[in-house]
Amino acid sequence: MAEFRVRSAKPIACSVTVPGDKSISHRSVMIASLADGVSRIDGFLASEDCLATMKAFRAMGVRIDVPDEASLHGPDQPGVVSITVHGSGGGLHAPAGPIDCGNSGTTMRLMSGLLAAQPFHTELFGDASLSRRPMKRVIAPLSLMGARISGQGEDGLPPLVIEGGALTPIHYRLPVASAQVKSAVLLAGLFCEGRTVVTEPVPTRDHTERMFEVFGIAVRREGDDILLEGGQRPVARDFTVPGDISSAAFWLVAAAAQPGSELQVMNVGLNPTRTGILKVLARMGAHVQEIVETTGRGEPAGRLIVRGGRLRATTIGGAEIPNVIDELPILAVAAALAEGTTVIRDARELRVKETDRIAAVAGNLRAMGVTVRERDDGMEIDGPARLHAPERPLPTFGDHRIAMAGAIAGLFAEGETVVAGVECVDTSYPGFGRELARFQAGDTVAGAGGSGRSGSGVQLRPDRPACGLVVAIDGPAASGKSTVARALARELGFVHVNSGAIYRAVTRAVVDAGIDPEQAPAVEAHLHRLRIECGHRDGEATIEVNGAVADHLDAAEVNAAVSPVARIPAVRAALYPLQRGYAALANIVMEGRDIGSAIFPETPYKYYIDATPEVRAQRRAAQGLADSVAQRDFQDRTREVAPLRQAEGALVIDTSDLGVGEVVSRIVEDLRARELVV
Ligand code: S3P
Repeated sequence: MAEFRVRSAKPIACSVTVPGDKSISHRSVMIASLADGVSRIDGFLASEDCLATMKAFRAMGVRIDVPDEASLHGPDQPGVVSITVHGSGGGLHAPAGPIDCGNSGTTMRLMSGLLAAQPFHTELFGDASLSRRPMKRVIAPLSLMGARISGQGEDGLPPLVIEGGALTPIHYRLPVASAQVKSAVLLAGLFCEGRTVVTEPVPTRDHTERMFEVFGIAVRREGDDILLEGGQRPVARDFTVPGDISSAAFWLVAAAAQPGSELQVMNVGLNPTRTGILKVLARMGAHVQEIVETTGRGEPAGRLIVRGGRLRATTIGGAEIPNVIDELPILAVAAALAEGTTVIRDARELRVKETDRIAAVAGNLRAMGVTVRERDDGMEIDGPARLHAPERPLPTFGDHRIAMAGAIAGLFAEGETVVAGVECVDTSYPGFGRELARFQAGDTVAGAGGSGRSGSGVQLRPDRPACGLVVAIDGPAASGKSTVARALARELGFVHVNSGAIYRAVTRAVVDAGIDPEQAPAVEAHLHRLRIECGHRDGEATIEVNGAVADHLDAAEVNAAVSPVARIPAVRAALYPLQRGYAALANIVMEGRDIGSAIFPETPYKYYIDATPEVRAQRRAAQGLADSVAQRDFQDRTREVAPLRQAEGALVIDTSDLGVGEVVSRIVEDLRARELVV
């Protein structure tokens, strides 16, 4: 039986990315499988739950390509993958045998709706935990639509037997606030003639509705009603799954409850039906900043910054519950560390999750010295408790979120907390253990952000934070931006980051693996095998790839390969959050070609360093490099991905007649006017 061994940790200052959203990953495969055409899903969560959904559709004849499938279950499993789904155009085939939904309630409930409308027989079964979960909640509405679907006993427990056939639309009012039930009815409604309406008195996560829209299916919301006209067929789309806020929740609490911690979570889904935890943590006194970077149709996503503090108790209940339902186990840990009595109510649903989460959380917290009063629909938790390691290993009851919540509690407990039976974590968060080790070590980067003192007389205003400030420097080749960026960083006491080095580090790995840089699919597949970690030492950014410092980045073979590698959209997409991640480690001066325009468009400190083509050509020649500056400019400005642009609001400095010191002084002057430095 696998276990976590956890000891109390120091404050952290780091950034994390979490694997793809589980709810969204399930839906992406389901809807892409029904679509006409080929869809590519990036950021797909390669966890046991979502892989169960993927296998189910394969069993029904859908071709789904996954690069390097063998790596999905190993100890170095990537967590996310890009998959290509060859949509069936609505023509699913009868599976050869019963479909195994594993531990996944979402797979079983959503698929029930979809399968009830197919012209064939199916059986759905699951593991011991899923076999105890009530399916009556989907059997009831689907039966009203004319479905022939049955489970075991009163509660309609799995396995389910479904004789698919024609369905008629209904207007269904959800008796329990459940996105799974809503989605099952909507998926069935897709195959009906006429209008299906689901009324949800309390809003639940709307990923199905959003995914429908992305794939070209019109769905409307009017007040509490969701209206769908049947007979629509999804059209294939490429889609990127953002990180799962329910996975991020564990680190958010680890940081929020630890005074002195500062955490940045990158590229995480920020759908308002899922961000309830942020409001709860803010009520509890944590400093939480939400930065939405991607909006529009589909799913909003962005960054979260959390600063830890002393938490205080709160009450969680009512309409807020569906929005935090999966986060309640970890919020209970936050409650144990908060001043006062936290009340969780109206959360009876927790009793029928992967395990009875009220009983499991209460039992585990008590074993660590917390006073918890269990209620039928929630619990009351007295804090702040002095947590201690439990006498016996904490059980997980095969529930991933109970396992992870126990591990985070261990970060705050005296002694060594053992959590036993943690294999279940892979159902939603492959790689959690690796991340836990970082938090365990109190991952801080020495000198993060500096002390606010600069090299020579310039001083950061005292109210400025130790990390998160970004000075963006862009400019064409040979404009002098690297020299300026390095000198400026030293002057400010910031960390200097050359964004090109990150592309070079990946290129180095690609070259070392003998991969042709022009072969984008091979490069991309390799990219998923790389663990890239950013840090800094002595004011300069450092990059480690799979545990080794990336060096020899200026070697001829890297020079030759870096352009084609950096041109690959998937490479840019993968490195974008890493570049942003530096800001979580320190205050930075970052230089490149798209820093102010694409990587940190929100920073108020943007500079565009330029010089006349003649001066730049001379500088180039003086470096012993003979490439044509005009040609480089043309390439840089016209390339499809991340072209060189003057960011909006950037101060343009022509360095043709200026020395480095003069350029730096001019920038410092501007930063003083903007009240960054004194
Ligand atoms: C989910 C909905 C929620 C949630 C589960 C995933 C979904 O369940 O707890 O983890 O993807 O629709 P309910 O719909 O049963 O509340």
